[in-house]
Amino acid sequence: MFTTSAAVLTHSHSHPAQIEGANFLNLLIVDNDRTIRESCRQVAQSLGFNTQVAESAEQAYRLLDSSSTDAVLLDLRPGTGGLDALHAIKKYRAEALVIVVTGYGTVQSAVQAMKDGAYDYVTKPFSTEELRLLLGRVAGHLRLKTENRVLRETIKSRQGFGNIIGRAPEMEKLYRIIAKAGQSSHPVLILGESGTGKELVAKSIHLAGVFRNKPFIPVDCGSLVPTLIESELFGHVRGAFTGATNPKDGLLAIAEGGTVFLDEIGELPIDLQAKLLRAIQEKEIRPVGSVKRVPINVRILAATNRDLERAVAEGAFRRDLFFRLNVLTLRLPALRERRQDIPLLVAHILERIGRDAGKEKTIADEALKALLNYDWPGNVRELENSLERACALSSAHEIQLRDLPTQIYGAPTELMGVSPPSNGIVPMAELERQTILNALTQVNGDKMLAARLLGIGKTTLYRKLKEYEHMNL
Ligand SMILES: Nc1ncnc2c1ncn2[C@@H]1O[C@H](COP(=O)(O)OP(=O)(O)OP(=O)(O)O)[C@@H](O)[C@H]1O
Ligand SMILES: [Mg+2]
Repeated sequence: MFTTSAAVLTHSHSHPAQIEGANFLNLLIVDNDRTIRESCRQVAQSLGFNTQVAESAEQAYRLLDSSSTDAVLLDLRPGTGGLDALHAIKKYRAEALVIVVTGYGTVQSAVQAMKDGAYDYVTKPFSTEELRLLLGRVAGHLRLKTENRVLRETIKSRQGFGNIIGRAPEMEKLYRIIAKAGQSSHPVLILGESGTGKELVAKSIHLAGVFRNKPFIPVDCGSLVPTLIESELFGHVRGAFTGATNPKDGLLAIAEGGTVFLDEIGELPIDLQAKLLRAIQEKEIRPVGSVKRVPINVRILAATNRDLERAVAEGAFRRDLFFRLNVLTLRLPALRERRQDIPLLVAHILERIGRDAGKEKTIADEALKALLNYDWPGNVRELENSLERACALSSAHEIQLRDLPTQIYGAPTELMGVSPPSNGIVPMAELERQTILNALTQVNGDKMLAARLLGIGKTTLYRKLKEYEHMNL
């Protein structure tokens, strides 16, 4: 019982300050005593809550079914269903906060209610002020929950730029430059360690531009022999060299209106550097073996993980070409310089792996912590490979610390849950396991190739992996 219902009414007439955000909250009051029901309703409304009332558990269930309810003030009397009503409400609306009201001398049932998932309790008789404080706590708690949810949604929808994931300040800066670079047609030089996303960024610049529907053509200057790069980029005429039985257009011409991405530009042979510079300056190319020039209209993006300035100083890269390409430079941060993005990247990568595999993948806190502490010389690519390997190794839903490559989680002996041997001797079986796992990492999970390199049969490799998987469970 309230101290007196009159006291409640008196207080509510003094217009107490409303609780911020309470007008978005729906409170359901369940009590079979009409006076108490109405008094509680007035207090709640004066604080700004939207309220609904029910005089029985059955009526409460109907309301829970037909409207959204954030919190319930539930009288625990047998008349309103008692603890059974609490259980039913928690089942209907697991996320609703339930505050139970218990009679004098029934603290025992309040304790039980808390154990069964009630958010708080109040014993009768209680004052208006007590109710007000209680509802204030409820509103605060609900607000926090909403904010968390909003935050999570925001992160989900705005975690980066296009396909680029990252919210570190360096990345935000990068997104602004990419957006600007997309609007111009000058060359852009993209610098960054291996696996930092240079190609991804190049593609984003292309997609941010007005010619996004034109071709985006990556050329790996490091992987082709010099004569081939030349004919790839500039094309050749029939009979230009042995094997050139048909004429071929150069990629710089084929990309007409689009973008050519010169990856590993630092590897471009010096004579081709001169030819590329001329092509950029004069906007035309001369196919190998031809005397005619072909006009080109193409955007050049270039990337390297080499220190180009040093290469220039050492005479390995032409200074004039460097200046040409370096109109706009993007320096991609190493993953270790933006560790705060690791959880986001992990979530993103696991979501993709899970989607491909048709089952959800998560990661244990301990394993995530190891990822956060690791140095990532291979950056995002290495993170991707590590997670892909971990998922290939274990069919379990959650990736564990021991599923990660050894260099990430540290001492190999921790792997089997045994403490490091004081004598420093590692069991053969463990050495074998490490050798196999490392080989797999090096070949990006290609089991056939790994077996070949290890000099064992592929069935042996599969059997061993199965054993390791069982050890993980
Ligand atoms: N910020 C990022 N968000 C999401 N994925 C990323 C990000 N950075 C890199 N990746 C992914 O990591 C992998 C390596 O990226 P990319 O090939 O662009 O790197 P790179 O700098 O060109 O590496 P390398 O120097 O080894 O060629 C790709 O699968 C790419 O999708
Ligand atoms: Mg690359």
